[in-house]
Amino acid sequence: MARILEFVLNGRHRVDAVPDNLFRVDAVPDNLLLLDYLREVVGLTGTKTGCDGGECGACTVLVDDQPRLSCLTLAAGVNAQRVDTVESLGQDGRLSAVQRGFHEKLGSQCGYCTPGFIMASAGLLRRNPHPSEDDIRAALGSNICRCTGYVKIIEAVKYAAELHAGGLAP
Ligand code: FES
Ligand code: FES
Repeated sequence: MARILEFVLNGRHRVDAVPDNLFRVDAVPDNLLLLDYLREVVGLTGTKTGCDGGECGACTVLVDDQPRLSCLTLAAGVNAQRVDTVESLGQDGRLSAVQRGFHEKLGSQCGYCTPGFIMASAGLLRRNPHPSEDDIRAALGSNICRCTGYVKIIEAVKYAAELHAGGLAP
């Protein structure tokens, strides 16, 4: 089975369907994971494959501003919803608040986990622009980093919240 997928990806309306004269032919297999759809169908490789089993958070994207593990989400399941990946952040060559926070506070080392942390953090600031440290730790509780020891990541998100309060988009 396959189906048409129609949703908003990184602010743009998108339909995956193949026109066949009178009918639209289903284009997205029922069993296609959102992670594989984003990376292999759309070509957005910022979302990373880590454990591929719901344990590491590297594949985190936002669905209607809520963090979602794309390795556990079917692409067909986001029909009519809004999906944001790390490629959606920043405008006109300027980093977003969370991107700047991770860059300036050294919240990234090897960087493999970073898109997932950034999206979980961006989702937090969209829902809660003034998070406490406990809020930040709770929001990042599903993301694993093998490099940083997490201290720099928490500092990065605190700084990002300050930048966001100053008017920079998360
Ligand atoms: S790749 Fe999805 S949680 Fe690890
Ligand atoms: S920066 Fe290397 S896993 Fe997090």
